[in-house]
Amino acid sequence: MRATELAHLILQRAVKPGAWAVDATVGNGYDTLFLAHCVGPTGRVFGFDVQETALAAAAQRVHGLPQVTLYHSGHERLVEHLPADAKSRLAAVMFNLGYLPGGDHSIVTRAETTLTGLGHALGYLAAGGLMTLVLYPGHPGGADEAAAVRDFAQHLPADYAVTQHTRINALHQAPELLVIERTA
Ligand SMILES: C[S@@+](CC[C@H](N)C(=O)[O-])C[C@H]1O[C@@H](n2cnc3c(N)ncnc32)[C@H](O)[C@@H]1O
Repeated sequence: MRATELAHLILQRAVKPGAWAVDATVGNGYDTLFLAHCVGPTGRVFGFDVQETALAAAAQRVHGLPQVTLYHSGHERLVEHLPADAKSRLAAVMFNLGYLPGGDHSIVTRAETTLTGLGHALGYLAAGGLMTLVLYPGHPGGADEAAAVRDFAQHLPADYAVTQHTRINALHQAPELLVIERTA
């Protein structure tokens, strides 16, 4: 099973109708659509991406779903966009790092902005809320970013539980899923 599918499987348990969630890297909108279905019309999904082309594709995918709001902005600036009452309210935050499949491979997530975004986003998780991060150590620059994110996650205090899921046979530098649960 791919890391992205595993993230969906794990999040299905936590993200219920009426919940609020963030897609920190909207891309083509598959994760946004998944979250929108989980939260239903009474919930909310806030999505961020730096690429207009990605947001245009995503907007078509989630067309007509009132629970979705998309921002043309980096996730490092999510504090400027999320409503104040989103604090400690999010059931899920998804980061799917790297570049847009089928898009410009030079536009990639970067360790510095990823760490800023994920650090801020942690403050928006509800108790029991989950953050998923799909890391791609095989992409150019991806190994450094993955190492920085792992290091950050490993040093989180005990209010968070961090698990790592990756393939350990055969595939060199396999994609990896980190799941951070806010436990308290
Ligand atoms: C692997 S793709 C995401 C795939 C997407 N979740 C989906 O379901 O189709 C990574 C995305 O991150 C975006 N990105 C890069 N830097 C970003 C940043 N600072 N903030 C938000 N998105 C960013 C890229 O433009 C790209 O669309």
